[in-house]
Amino acid sequence: MEIAGKVVLITGASSGIGLATARLFAQKGARLALAARSAEKLAQLASELPEAIAVPTDMRDEAAVRRMVAQTQEHYQRIDVLINNAGQGLAVPIEQANIEAYRSIFELNVVSVLVAMQAVIPIMRTQGGGMIVNISSGTSKLPPERYKTSAVGLYASTKYALNAITLIGREELAADNISLGVVYPGVTATDFYTSLAQGRPSAPAGSTSVDSAESVAEKILEAVETQAAEVYTDNLKKALFS
Ligand SMILES: NC(=O)c1ccc[n+]([C@@H]2O[C@H](COP(=O)([O-])OP(=O)(O)OC[C@H]3O[C@@H](n4cnc5c(N)ncnc54)[C@H](OP(=O)(O)O)[C@@H]3O)[C@@H](O)[C@H]2O)c1
Repeated sequence: MEIAGKVVLITGASSGIGLATARLFAQKGARLALAARSAEKLAQLASELPEAIAVPTDMRDEAAVRRMVAQTQEHYQRIDVLINNAGQGLAVPIEQANIEAYRSIFELNVVSVLVAMQAVIPIMRTQGGGMIVNISSGTSKLPPERYKTSAVGLYASTKYALNAITLIGREELAADNISLGVVYPGVTATDFYTSLAQGRPSAPAGSTSVDSAESVAEKILEAVETQAAEVYTDNLKKALFS
């Protein structure tokens, strides 16, 4: 898919990977809708980019997610790409997890993505196609013994679910020319580690394999352009497969 001129809705666009993705896609000529809860940050970003609207949204609010999609459609009259990037982590062993904290990250990392997908699919079908990219995590590709030290197993479980929804959706929607893909970032330098729902990360901050948000944004662009089912960051690919 050639990105110039395409209407792209990005969630979690106020910070980190989503913010870098908004900047990169704007540079490539996309027309953007930017979602997150921080309305002021979104308005500021939208004012800096050539063609962008802010659609402040709490992704845990199902009606708000549907409104986000409707507002984007109303403004641009189409939605070519949905990037489900908003997400939150949790870093405690299973036994210690606060159930509300888990419910809250599951709601954001999985359920809100399903709601956004369901809202956007009929629009994409009517216009003849589209692309949905879901931002997962390298943690969902780790062997279970690695969770003992990092305590990110429950967070990973939300991304397992996200991977499954994406890859199953890819099969279900292929006939409608709607393509779905997963991007797997590894450890990335963002606010993610300071806004966990519970626990403290044992992430290897300062490790040589920390990616920048900008380099992950390049991989998200690659996922859209190639319509690949799965895209890994280079560092993650090295860590997992070599
Ligand atoms: N950083 C990493 O090492 C890493 C690694 C693998 C995967 N990931 C994934 O990458 C994605 C982006 O994370 P990031 O690293 O860029 O973290 P980040 O800097 O903390 O950004 C998270 C984004 O999600 C938004 N968000 C959080 N709760 C929300 C809600 N209820 N409704 C709407 N938006 C919400 C935040 O905006 P507001 O606070 O303004 O709502 C923010 O824009 C996440 O899905 C994460 O799981 C990150």
